[in-house]
Amino acid sequence: MAPIDKMSNIVAVIQARENSTRFPSKVLSKINGKSIIQIIHTRLKRSKKINKIIFAIPNNKKNKNLEKHLKNKNIKYYKGSEKDVLDRYIKVANKTNAKHIVRITADCPLVDPFLVDKIILKYFKEKADYASNTSPASFPDGMDVEVFSKKILQKLKKITKKISDKEHVTTLINEISCKKINILNKKDLSQENLTLDEKNDLWKIKKIFDHFNPKQVFSFEKIEKALMKLKLLGVKNKLRNEGFKMSIGQKFWRRAKNSIEGGNMLLSKREDRFAPNLWPSYFSKSKKCFIWDLNNKKFTDFSLMGVGTNILGYSNPEVDNAVRKTIEKGNLTTLNSPEEVYLAEKLINLHPWASKAKFTRSGGEANAVAVRIARAAAGKRYKIAICGYHGWHDWYISANLSNSSNLKNHLIDGIPSSGVPKNLKSTIFTFKYNEINDLEKIIKKNPDVGIIKMEVMRNYPPKNNFLKKVRNLANKHNMILIFDECTSGFRENFGGLHMKYKVYPDMAVFGKALGNGYAINAIIGKSEIMKYANQSFISSTFWTERIGPTAALKTLEVMNKTKSWKKISLIGKKVKKAWVKLSKKYDLKISITGLDSLCSFNFASKNNLKYQTYITQEMLKKNFLASNTVYISICHDKNIFNKYIKNLDNIFKVIKNCEKNKQNINYLLEGPIKISGFSRLN
Ligand SMILES: Cc1ncc(COP(=O)(O)O)c(C=O)c1O
Repeated sequence: MAPIDKMSNIVAVIQARENSTRFPSKVLSKINGKSIIQIIHTRLKRSKKINKIIFAIPNNKKNKNLEKHLKNKNIKYYKGSEKDVLDRYIKVANKTNAKHIVRITADCPLVDPFLVDKIILKYFKEKADYASNTSPASFPDGMDVEVFSKKILQKLKKITKKISDKEHVTTLINEISCKKINILNKKDLSQENLTLDEKNDLWKIKKIFDHFNPKQVFSFEKIEKALMKLKLLGVKNKLRNEGFKMSIGQKFWRRAKNSIEGGNMLLSKREDRFAPNLWPSYFSKSKKCFIWDLNNKKFTDFSLMGVGTNILGYSNPEVDNAVRKTIEKGNLTTLNSPEEVYLAEKLINLHPWASKAKFTRSGGEANAVAVRIARAAAGKRYKIAICGYHGWHDWYISANLSNSSNLKNHLIDGIPSSGVPKNLKSTIFTFKYNEINDLEKIIKKNPDVGIIKMEVMRNYPPKNNFLKKVRNLANKHNMILIFDECTSGFRENFGGLHMKYKVYPDMAVFGKALGNGYAINAIIGKSEIMKYANQSFISSTFWTERIGPTAALKTLEVMNKTKSWKKISLIGKKVKKAWVKLSKKYDLKISITGLDSLCSFNFASKNNLKYQTYITQEMLKKNFLASNTVYISICHDKNIFNKYIKNLDNIFKVIKNCEKNKQNINYLLEGPIKISGFSRLN
């Protein structure tokens, strides 16, 4: 073994910054009273081979607190270019007369000094120019160590031109011909993650430090055992080196979670519903059925189309122009907008059984308004039998209170109801779609149930005259029947889906597609019921703005002109047929549900969710946003349909191999598995 020259001057350079986008000031966050900076410093000080430890930080105001902290703790540091991290390394090497550099990043608080020494020794023993444990990786992300000579650093400096490569320092190492060696762990743990990238990562790292507390320095072998003991192995939450691979949208999603609780306001738009860590999450612009992400990459939306809001395509020119004109004239004043009157008349015209309307801006609100009016009319019989999804409001979520599994099979398993007053207990009863006995039983047992509220159809069509039977029961027991058409409306016919089945409610709720992407929801009903709105306080400032009804009026006009419901149903039929054809071709069992224009498929396989995630992952590579559900728009033309099916064909082929055990889906997935969507009563 070549002796390590005392004068070799091995300098550990730890790049650190305060202004991380996903987790600002993460390096100053504390575990058992010590900052991440102090922890890394303490751990690296145990190395027997490193001569100096220097933190390399950006030279700007955003890193003032970090500098202050390093100063206070008497830790050596150097300030350099924010973006050109490679240059920071060069400058530190020059300043310290380093001959060899150990590169560590400050998102690795579990860096192992003994492993560092092992790598340094091997580097010298094998007379290497570059040694690491990352290519290929076998240690968890977060145990990364690179050792290289100053000469290599200078060569990198010469060939690295792109700013993104300068940020990641050694990206171009493979372009330099020199002796490179890699250190492997006994076990492949490369999919495990121990980095501190975002706030969520802190708990896992803290758990490990707590396990060894008060010891702050312990080897990777011990960490590996602790991971097993604490059952933290396989808690897979991100891709290796994801900071480098992530698109702007993915980074932005992590940033969002720091300032918006849960990241956003709609569960269905969270990345974990599609392909976590891969889904682009944010859009910069949209047109027809195309969406551009924050990297300006164009995707074809063959998935939710704005969660069903854009039947006429994104940024429909006619609707947008109408809205633009309204904006020019003013959106909200002390006086009312005439458009809401025109819209009320239009909806009543389309649904002759109704004679009054009210408007809100979201579906949950519209359902809450409908329920308030119906309850005011029903008096003592204010309890409700429900079948469907009706939003987030107390009246609805209170179904969980009598029994935490009431909404099981209906919404996300065990959907929490914290914050909903307990005295709403036993005011809501759930019944299953197409099971009239279920509803009969509720009515028989609970004479104070005076309202039935349901979606006309979701996953399955009505069987055995189900809707008519519901109407008859409502008539027989003098109950108010409300159809929630927020999602089903205008998708299969021009108006509520109930018109197709010739079963008429006492009230109906519309939303989603009504404004083609602009916020407008409507409640229509018989005047003998709607009049009870005056006996309750139902009033809100922004329910009177003008863009919503303007957009709805134009949307209805364009829908009528293009016969959009016919077009989207036809395309949807073709999509369903193509799915069946593919499943037969590859001998895969799938089940297809939903309206033609809002259809879904599921694999009859224990790997269903993995396959769905894989579909999204692979479709993204083909510039498609796709999952197992499609909301069709009139913009999904033949060309787009053909491309979608061709791409899906290749993916189904791989899924077949997985089902036949020729390929392993676990190795094909590049990120965590999506979580399951709503399962429903209907
Ligand atoms: C049938 C139905 N009702 C109500 C809602 C709630 O609407 P919003 O999300 O606009 O509050 C939805 C939304 O998915 C729905 O599908």
